[in-house]
Amino acid sequence: MKVLVVGGGGREHALVWKVAQSPRVKKIYAAPGNAGMAQLAECAPIKAEDIAGLLAFARSKSVDLTIVGPEGALSMGIVDEFQKAGLRIFGPARNAAEIEANKAFTKDLMKNYHIPSAEYGTFTERAAAEAYVRSKGAPIVVKAAGLAAGKGVVVAETVEEAVNALDMIMTKKIFGAAGDVVVVEECLKGEEASFMAFTDGKTVVPMASSQDHKRVFDADKGPNTGGMGAYSPAPVVTKQIERQVMDKVMNPTVRAMEKEGRLFKGILYAGLMIHNGEARVLEFNARFGDPETQPVMARLDSDLIDIIEAILDGKLATVPIKWKTDSAVCVVMASGGYPGNYDKGREIRGLDQASALKNVMVFHSGTALKNGKIVTDGGRVLGVTGLGPTVAAAIDNAYAGVREISFDGAHYRRDIGARALETGN
Ligand code: AMP
Ligand code: GLY
Repeated sequence: MKVLVVGGGGREHALVWKVAQSPRVKKIYAAPGNAGMAQLAECAPIKAEDIAGLLAFARSKSVDLTIVGPEGALSMGIVDEFQKAGLRIFGPARNAAEIEANKAFTKDLMKNYHIPSAEYGTFTERAAAEAYVRSKGAPIVVKAAGLAAGKGVVVAETVEEAVNALDMIMTKKIFGAAGDVVVVEECLKGEEASFMAFTDGKTVVPMASSQDHKRVFDADKGPNTGGMGAYSPAPVVTKQIERQVMDKVMNPTVRAMEKEGRLFKGILYAGLMIHNGEARVLEFNARFGDPETQPVMARLDSDLIDIIEAILDGKLATVPIKWKTDSAVCVVMASGGYPGNYDKGREIRGLDQASALKNVMVFHSGTALKNGKIVTDGGRVLGVTGLGPTVAAAIDNAYAGVREISFDGAHYRRDIGARALETGN
């Protein structure tokens, strides 16, 4: 079978790496892909949001199955367009992807179906939003309802900060139309976890649990990033929490989506806040997480293609899904200056040495091939992923890989996975 993976980040490299292990797959394409994926797939320079271009490409190459990474393409309706053209594609349709692309819709859905989440208000008028903020006080969270590349959320410690966020989103329109509607919500305390599940719209099967590290510096200091690393399993997601999340969040949400005429087929990802043994939903994503997918795919024992085909055929309940008992840890190596401004085009050394290590996978995010050399091409450059029988061993393996790799300005956190160690796993 011929498979096309849409996207160009570490998540997509991990998906390509996993798909490449399926005996059923003869050829992989990636669009736009990156220098890492190019070792396993033929990359086509088509952007993930260029749906017409991707459709024409998939047709011309007789692609049998397309797997979509990023939310932008999903929310623009790539799945609907491919299906209309009679092509098989994995991901939710546009109306189901709204669970990520429209936070106001999702908050109302959770409220109507009693899915545990933070108390909130939605606003289109700045004055009303400000009055709500002042009546609730700080800390409080302000969110642009639409997609804002992961930057549309402000956790405000003071009322002033929240009002300033309203100003930026609603008056200055820094996220454009994504800020036409604003959600203001209660600030939840606790520990975050990423809960991803496969679903065919009826059956829901949880993936191995994971947690990412959003802040740029060690000990969760500094600004938020797209994610500086992740690990799996996340000890905070105990068996009891997993059962609770399946019963109170995942299954009810999938049923609610079906009832609303928005059958959700694909990956449903709940961002959770867990406090005193209770999980509440911070947000839903309609796709695989990045970088969580890197450690999670490293642990998946079953053939991903079998799972995806079962989902497309509405038969998820019939496929066994197995996970390795090993832990996995992914350390992101970023460009100097990231998440602020950074340079591109710095030569990356030591990739082959790192990949040659046992139980180390080097997934590329922002890399490109230039004059035969692999160079940096983004803020997050690599996700060096280690597997091991314990979290400590997985951490050691990941950092052994990191130590082999260098590029000018490279920086990374030194404490990825440390939280899982503390929790005694
Ligand atoms: P979101 O994109 O909605 O997941 O928000 C991004 C990040 O903001 C989350 O991963 C949390 O760290 C934080 N966040 C979002 N909503 C809340 C909330 N209600 N309370 C506390 N932190 C939040
Ligand atoms: N790691 C967070 C996300 O994928 O949205």
